[in-house]
Amino acid sequence: MYQDKIDVNFDGKPAYSIILNKDFSGLSEALTSLDLQNRRFMIISDSNVGPLYLKECIELLKPISDKITSLTFEAGELSKNLDTVKLVYNRLIDKRFDRRDIIVALGGGVTGDLAGFVAATYLRGVDFIQVPTTLLAMADSSIGGKTGVDFLTYKNMIGAFHQPKLVYMNLSTLKTLPVKEFNAGMSEIIKHGLIKDEDYYNWLTNNQDAIKALDIDTLRKMVYKSCMIKKSVVEADPKEKGDRALLNFGHTIGHAIEKLKDFSLLHGDCVAIGMIAASYLSYRRGYISKNDLENIIGSIDAFGLPTSVSGLLERDIYLATKLDKKMQSDKINFICLQKLGHAIMDTTVSEHEMTEAIKFILTD
Ligand SMILES: NC(=O)c1ccc[n+]([C@@H]2O[C@H](COP(=O)([O-])OP(=O)(O)OC[C@H]3O[C@@H](n4cnc5c(N)ncnc54)[C@H](O)[C@@H]3O)[C@@H](O)[C@H]2O)c1
Ligand SMILES: [Zn+2]
Repeated sequence: MYQDKIDVNFDGKPAYSIILNKDFSGLSEALTSLDLQNRRFMIISDSNVGPLYLKECIELLKPISDKITSLTFEAGELSKNLDTVKLVYNRLIDKRFDRRDIIVALGGGVTGDLAGFVAATYLRGVDFIQVPTTLLAMADSSIGGKTGVDFLTYKNMIGAFHQPKLVYMNLSTLKTLPVKEFNAGMSEIIKHGLIKDEDYYNWLTNNQDAIKALDIDTLRKMVYKSCMIKKSVVEADPKEKGDRALLNFGHTIGHAIEKLKDFSLLHGDCVAIGMIAASYLSYRRGYISKNDLENIIGSIDAFGLPTSVSGLLERDIYLATKLDKKMQSDKINFICLQKLGHAIMDTTVSEHEMTEAIKFILTD
């Protein structure tokens, strides 16, 4: 059995480990080594993930705890709200969970964000474990301690920073993930290469067949590398005051599209389109070459992600970018590629440049 481990610091101190494995077999050992045995465990999962993996996880935890409860909520972003949070609080109170007990998020980013938020707030904070089962959650959302829920029409409006005690990934869970969801996760992974590591970006394109075939060793290398990139960014800037914003590459225009399409497109799909717009802007500025731009579009397309969007007006997208909450005052903190593998934040992007970039990704 192989097992990879990445240690993540928070505020300069060791905070938690990310464990990558090909099954769930190391989970209870990892918890025991953190002295987290003999606690109550509440495993939270959604209606797709629960039937697939909950039973196995409960069985594996039984030797280290005789108080395991689970709660399964309706899958989907629409459940990431305060109503579901209330449901979980009620169950925790019912089962007399106290400060020593542990919440386990078994699922994708929705589950991780929701369960993490419950853990951040129940009794002013209890321990929680991330067991991500989507590519997006493995490579992105389970690391960094951002938790939260949507409120009214606002995404991630209510939240808290709360670091997990452990992130445990069973890469084989990706085998049951719908292809569309897998591709959406690839969008963030391509982003990691583009913003921080050109070799990794090229490696992704060169290994696309093995990645798409879900070859476990290739997935392991890929998720490991993406976790290392995400780790380095969040360690340097745990509360998103500076460099962490580079992770928003493709997200300014991506979020605008996501919102204008009423969340009918997957986040990763919107980010893919947003990355093309941001790459086009970077090309027009003379940072990257036309060849680089075409290469990026080719890679995004190769991973089954959209490269353009229809049915939207350029002006609406532009105005929606101005409402993005990642904006500081009325300046847009736009992330450009200075070159492949190196992103920079720019506050001088003009309306004209934005409009040109938006036009580039619009089709009728
Ligand atoms: N906290 C952060 O830093 C951060 C970063 C990025 C995104 N997010 C959040 O993450 C969420 C998106 O995450 P997501 O894409 O993982 O969505 P998700 O959790 O909704 O999962 C996507 C779909 O896949 C299903 N699923 C999950 N694992 C499966 C498996 N192994 N087999 C079969 N089906 C499976 C789910 O039930 C769901 O239908 C958004 O709410 C976003 O805001 C958070
Ligand atoms: Zn994203």
